[in-house]
Amino acid sequence: MKILAIETSCDETAFTLLGVNEADKSAHFAVLAHQVRSQVEEHAPYGGVYPNIAKREHAKNAVPMLSVLLDDSVEKSTETISEEQKESVSRYFEHQPEVATALIEYTQTHTRPAIDYIAVTYGPGLEPALWVGINVARSLAVLWGIPVIPVNHMEGHVFSVFANTKEFSLPEIEFPLLALLVSGGHTEFDLAQKGAHASIEYKRIGHTVDDAIGESFDKVGRLLGLPYPGGPKISALAKQARDEGISPDEIPLPSPMIHTHDLDFSFSGLKTAVRREIEKKETIDEHFTKALALSFEEAVVKVLVKKTRGAIDQTSPKCIVIAGGVSANRYIQKKIEEIAREYEIPFYTPELDLATDNSIMIGVAGYVKIQQHIQNNIPFPDLESITADGGVAIDGNVRR
Ligand code: KG4
Ligand code: ZN
Repeated sequence: MKILAIETSCDETAFTLLGVNEADKSAHFAVLAHQVRSQVEEHAPYGGVYPNIAKREHAKNAVPMLSVLLDDSVEKSTETISEEQKESVSRYFEHQPEVATALIEYTQTHTRPAIDYIAVTYGPGLEPALWVGINVARSLAVLWGIPVIPVNHMEGHVFSVFANTKEFSLPEIEFPLLALLVSGGHTEFDLAQKGAHASIEYKRIGHTVDDAIGESFDKVGRLLGLPYPGGPKISALAKQARDEGISPDEIPLPSPMIHTHDLDFSFSGLKTAVRREIEKKETIDEHFTKALALSFEEAVVKVLVKKTRGAIDQTSPKCIVIAGGVSANRYIQKKIEEIAREYEIPFYTPELDLATDNSIMIGVAGYVKIQQHIQNNIPFPDLESITADGGVAIDGNVRR
């Protein structure tokens, strides 16, 4: 089976051609081709991701990236495209007719690749950005006559922990699985249980009431005059401070909501405390920047550790996952892994390349959904019913 996976929910345009060999009992995956284009440079001048710029960049890059992914054969296709197919594609890209033209031209001049399914992110994320991926998926589905499976971006992050950029097999997942998903847009605990007919049912059991963790790293970065995204830079500075023996007590910062018994988070008060520390200083020198980055990261880690312990105590998981862009933070990763080890629960986290948004994870989560459809004779969704849903949670209904 070959799956074309598409991810355009935020500022990464990503396409993967995923091969799945089901010969053995467990599926074996091979990343046959993989393309990711980050828009960090386009968004950096604004200090954050701008939905309309994201949409424009996804639209501009989609067909050129697809043609590289599918390894440009210049052979002329024997299949002709009907007026009806062209009309559907033009309707999907009513406001970006250049994408419709490029897609039609591409499929008319290239042999149809042996793809069985298309998996595409439908949410959560930035709706204008999500629509580009969905419309590319629907257009190719119309032109090539293949089904589309919509994938929840957060479920993709959960599955990112089992993947890599070459070859891998899905392990026997033990449920309940507790996932801590930490990114620029989300901070949440999700509990996954085995549902009926081999489905996986998710429940969001905790989430941030204001800023996401990655967003707070980025905002602190901006306060310190660091370029976007600040997250990796703050964590590098915190590491330097730790290596140099600087104490986090040098600049005391609060760990908001650490004493509440729920599994929710709040990071905006911490950011305000950081701002106050900066305002108190006449000059921001290197030592202060490092010490502040350290105190900030430690304050965040304290809350994550406390809440993760709470989540384990409440749910007795058989497996723990930390994923999302912020899971690239080695210190945070290590601290969560230590808890998992202490409780003797298997722990999974993505490879560095797959911590941030990518389409391999969408392909893997898509495969699990495709299997559910096939095994239970569930029809694939009607193309017209697939829509972007910016606020959808992993359990399909909670909104931020
Ligand atoms: O998952 P992701 O690529 O995109 C979203 O879905 O948001 O996450 C990006 C976020 C950014 O806020 C970035 O600053 C943060 O992940 N990030 C980090 C680190 N690497 C990336 N935050 C803290 N430490 C890091 N090492
Ligand atoms: Zn993400």
